[in-house]
Amino acid sequence: MQETAFDLTGRDLLTLLDYSPEEVAYLLEQAKQLKVDHKSGISDKRLAGKSLGMIFENASTRTRVSFEVGMTQLGGHSLFLSSRDLQIGRGEPIKDTANVLSRYVDAIMIRTNSHEVVSEFATHATVPVINALTDSYHPCQALADGLTILEHKGTFKGVKLVYIGDGNNVAHSLLALGAKTGMDVTIASPEGHEVDSEIYNKAKKAAEKTGAKLEQCQDPQLAVVGADVIYTDVWTSMGFESEQAERLSAFAAFQVNEELLKNAKPDYIFLHCLPAHRGEEVSTDIIDGIHSAVYDQAENRLHVQKSVLVATMSNS
Ligand code: CP
Ligand code: NVA
Repeated sequence: MQETAFDLTGRDLLTLLDYSPEEVAYLLEQAKQLKVDHKSGISDKRLAGKSLGMIFENASTRTRVSFEVGMTQLGGHSLFLSSRDLQIGRGEPIKDTANVLSRYVDAIMIRTNSHEVVSEFATHATVPVINALTDSYHPCQALADGLTILEHKGTFKGVKLVYIGDGNNVAHSLLALGAKTGMDVTIASPEGHEVDSEIYNKAKKAAEKTGAKLEQCQDPQLAVVGADVIYTDVWTSMGFESEQAERLSAFAAFQVNEELLKNAKPDYIFLHCLPAHRGEEVSTDIIDGIHSAVYDQAENRLHVQKSVLVATMSNS
């Protein structure tokens, strides 16, 4: 992994596809160090006096709490801004909101259903904008997934991650993670719920630089053969609730369970971004079993986001 410091001051994080493989490696390496330092009781107040605005259009447990605690640990301050309580919820233009907030805070984090909203926000904001989940991407989640895989597997080279389920924001960000780290990623989704073809092609193009093998298929049994990392996510993401009944039947053959995982490697790890629906996308024995690393993964949201905050916000 790269040890060189990269100057990411002022950069937005909308998708990992916008970052070079070396920059992604740097963010992960720095996250590892921040985790070690925090656990050793070393105080790091690099963001003293800085504020992070956190705009949430949707519910959140992990993202909200880890960003908020991360800012506190780094000596800074965070503001929870529900879009329902902002004037943006009453139709104030994104341009005005982005410009005005940029005069108060040092970075803005947004969770919204529409990736276009985050992109437009980033166009107008004069401070870094961090994507905290859109319908297209969840880059902070993918960084936490990357750190967890490194901790459990020691490398990305030769590691095969198989994602089973909806071709959603999390799947897209795993493709981006693979493309930037050289990890092989296979996505198995039912017909009609595949990943977005434009994002898939962008990730494939980016993967040419690292040699990552990115694939998609509709057969979960075939996909899991030789997998080191098994990943799934909910069948109905936020914003798709009206499709829930149709999705339950479309995904029925895509549950991650012991039977399906017979052909994964004996030392595979199981990941899920959470929140999970036990008995739907994953059986209880798998998510609560010995291969599951979901709580390590959730903890790592804190460490990788601190890395992103320090990299984009600090002047040191
Ligand atoms: N994984 C994740 O983003 O969780 P939250 O929705 O709780 O933030
Ligand atoms: N794909 C899920 C992830 C939640 C963290 C959603 O968008 O609802």
